[in-house]
Amino acid sequence: MADDVYADRRERAAARLRTVDADASILFPSRNRRYLTGHAEEPSERHSFLVVPADGDPVLLVPALAGPQLRASTSVDDVRTWADGDDPLAAIRALLDGLRLCSGRLLVDDTMWARFTQDLRTAAPDATWGLASEALADLRIRKDDRELSALRAAAGVADTVVGELRDRGADVVGSTEAELAAWIEGRLAAHGGEGVPFDPIVAAGPNGAKPHHQPGDRAIRAGEPVVIDFGTTIDGYPSDQTRTLAFGDEPSAAYRAVHAVVREAQAAAVDAIAPGVPAATVDRAAREVIEAAGHGDQFVHRTGHGVGLDVHEAPYIVADNDRELAPGMTFSVEPGVYVDGAYGCRIEDIVVVTADGHERLNTTDRGWH
Ligand code: CO
Repeated sequence: MADDVYADRRERAAARLRTVDADASILFPSRNRRYLTGHAEEPSERHSFLVVPADGDPVLLVPALAGPQLRASTSVDDVRTWADGDDPLAAIRALLDGLRLCSGRLLVDDTMWARFTQDLRTAAPDATWGLASEALADLRIRKDDRELSALRAAAGVADTVVGELRDRGADVVGSTEAELAAWIEGRLAAHGGEGVPFDPIVAAGPNGAKPHHQPGDRAIRAGEPVVIDFGTTIDGYPSDQTRTLAFGDEPSAAYRAVHAVVREAQAAAVDAIAPGVPAATVDRAAREVIEAAGHGDQFVHRTGHGVGLDVHEAPYIVADNDRELAPGMTFSVEPGVYVDGAYGCRIEDIVVVTADGHERLNTTDRGWH
């Protein structure tokens, strides 16, 4: 039964709280909360908290108008409400009092709005505070089969759209970056994508030297490299891939050489991925190839980032991260070279750590054709 997944996650979260000597985690409508409840919620000005105690049953305290709908759908048994016109602080204080948490060590959601954390401090002045990631990050970092199938489906939709883009070929020449970005969003939706986790990046020619360029009115020219970075979301889980393509003509010899280096760096990093390998080793594997080719100072970002309910989350594939990879960890591998005033090149796939190595979720050709 679907609900068991979330009840099981809440039990594991409680166990983690005991491990880190915390008494409870307090979550507002966030990705952490979605991970533990399955609810896709947006924060609002009304106070809404999930309290997960280290010992005892979780409690949802929500606005009264949300109560009936939530009770009908949630696997959290204890749902309490406060009504417009009540003092939400009094409701929180009563809840924390009843759970004997008022002087405990409480971990609040990392992304909780400041006004809610302030209210919690006011309601429990004797508590001490930390961040929920202390307990939850280690759970979220390794994806279960259910999460992996959503990530795989999202990657599949992105790959299908890359295929359609390649099929357009020279037809793309003359489109503006913004037009191509809008076309990509439309195709992602047509293949079942549920929105985009970030706006597509289409960066033509010299715009490609800015890794997070916003698509504008530059018309794409024949033979210029275009950095195309996009993803879509399925069941809350995103994809994120990049191909750098040239339409209608061959790119310059200088660019082709850079593309070959980035492709080799990306392959070296992916090859390094296995359980027990530090994240930093994967970053190093990509960086060594690019440095050896003389482009080290043009690789201006980390090699990758974890993906899950958040499109950027742990593990970060970066030089100072000695965290060892473990099966289920899922992250991007996206080295790039950025040549100011000329072009950029980035190649990105999502990769999952498996029991004996790794699996790429994105499998389209990595060449510039
Ligand atoms: Co990425």
